[in-house]
Amino acid sequence: MRIGTPSGRRRSSGAAQLASPPVALPTNAFFDGGLLFSSRMTGIGEISRYIQTFMTLNLPLIREQFPFLRETVNGHPLIYLDNAASSQKPSRVIGRMSRFLESEYANVHRGIHLLSERATAAYEQARTKVAGLLNANREEEVIFTRGTTEAVNLVVNTWGRENIKAGDTILLTEMEHHSVLLPWLQLARETGARVEFVPVLENGAALDLDAAKRLLAAGPKLFAFVHVPNTLGLENPAGELCRWAAASGTTTFVDGAQSVGHQPVDVQKLGCDFLACSAHKMCGPSAIGALWGRHELLSAMPPWQYGGEMVDRAFYDKPATFREPPARFEAGTPPILEAAGWAEAIDFLNAVGLEAIRSHSVALANLAMDRLRSVEGLHVFGPAERQSGIVAFSIEGVHAHDVAFFANERGVALRAGHHCAQPLMRKLGSLSSSRASFYLYNQPSDVDALVGVLSEAVAFFR
Ligand SMILES: Cc1ncc(COP(=O)(O)O)c(C=O)c1O
Repeated sequence: MRIGTPSGRRRSSGAAQLASPPVALPTNAFFDGGLLFSSRMTGIGEISRYIQTFMTLNLPLIREQFPFLRETVNGHPLIYLDNAASSQKPSRVIGRMSRFLESEYANVHRGIHLLSERATAAYEQARTKVAGLLNANREEEVIFTRGTTEAVNLVVNTWGRENIKAGDTILLTEMEHHSVLLPWLQLARETGARVEFVPVLENGAALDLDAAKRLLAAGPKLFAFVHVPNTLGLENPAGELCRWAAASGTTTFVDGAQSVGHQPVDVQKLGCDFLACSAHKMCGPSAIGALWGRHELLSAMPPWQYGGEMVDRAFYDKPATFREPPARFEAGTPPILEAAGWAEAIDFLNAVGLEAIRSHSVALANLAMDRLRSVEGLHVFGPAERQSGIVAFSIEGVHAHDVAFFANERGVALRAGHHCAQPLMRKLGSLSSSRASFYLYNQPSDVDALVGVLSEAVAFFR
C-alpha cells in the first residue's frame, strides 16, 4: 500500500480529552467476538496503542442499540463501512420516531389542539438540541433544512444574491463536495464573480495552508470550505481558517456534514459565520439538517422560499412582510417527525460522548491504514495519519465498483465512485475510488474483514 506524504499530520486529541468519562466495560468484552481487539494486532505496544481508544466506548452496549447489526449478507455478518454516506440508526431513534407518529404527530405552530402542541414542542425542542450541539448563541440561529445541500443553497440564494457582485471573489478549496462547489460556482456564473481555490497538497495530504493564508489576506467576499472532507481522512483547521478570514472581513461558510455529530463542533469557538450539517450522518433520519448562521446575518437576509409560516402579513395588492429567522427560512410544513428523531439522536450521541466517538473512529481508520499496507497495489488518499474515520483508496488494476460489489458479497458495505467530489478525485488521478468510513458502532475486527475482503478481491480480479 502506498500512502500520502506525512505533511499535514496532526494527532487526534486522544482519550485524555474525553468529554464524557469512559463507561465501564463488561469483563468479557475483551475476548468477545473481536469487539476490542483485531485478530491481527500483534505485540503489547500495538495493543496498548489502540486499547486506550477502544476502551473509551462501551462498544458492546453501543452495538446492542443498532438493529442493523443483526443483518447478514450471504451468511456473513453485515459490516457497515459506508458511514460517510449515511449512518445507521439506534433503536432509541427508531422508537422515538415511532412513538411520535403514534401519539404526538400533527402540523406544527398552527394548531390550537393537543397534538399540534405536542408536535410543536418536539419540533422546537429539536432546535434547542441542535443549538446545544453546535453551541449556538441563540436557538433562532438554527434553521431546519433538508440537509447540508439545502443549507448551502439557502445561503447562496439569499446572502449570496444580496452580497456577491461582479468582480467579487468567492474562495473555495479544491476538496469541496459538489454540494458546496456547485451552488457557489453557479452564483459566480450568474453574477460575474471570480472563483478561486485553495489548493490541496500532493495526494490530498492537507490543504495548502500557506496558500489559504495568502488568498484570505486578499479579502475575498466569501470563503466556503469543508471542515472534514468525505474522501481524504483529514480535518481542516477550521478555527484558524475562520480567524484568517475574519481578519480581512471575509464571510465564512463551513461545511460540517462530516464533522458535526462525529466530534465536538462549537460555532462560537470556530468563529465562523455560517455552518451546515445533516442529521442522517449522525444517527438521525434523512431529510433534515440545519443551517446555523450568525443572527445579525440571518436577520438581514431576504427569504428564499415563499409560502406558509414564513410570512408576517400577506396582501393581494402590496408586498408581504416576513417573519424573523428562523421562521423566515422555513416555508411550508417542515420535517416534523425527522426533527423529533434528530433530537433523540443528539441525546444519544451526547450520552456516548462526541470526543470519544471521534477518537474511536480515528483509531479504527488508523488501524485500517496499518493493515491495508498488506494489500498489494492499494493506494490511500490523504495523510498517513488519519484525522477522521475515513479511508478512500484505489487498487491498481481493480475497478472501484468491482471492489465494492465483491465486498458486498461478503457482507462488507463500501462506497465506490467519485464521492461527489469529481474535480478533487480527478486531481488526485483517480476519478473512481473505494471508501471505507468508520463510526461509533464499528469495531477492530471490521478492519480485519475489510483487509481480508480486499486481499481476496485483488487475488480474484488480477
Ligand atoms: C463533506 C460533505 N458535504 C456535504 C454533503 C451533502 O450532504 P447532504 O447530502 O446530507 O445534503 C456531504 C454528503 O455526503 C458531504 O460528505
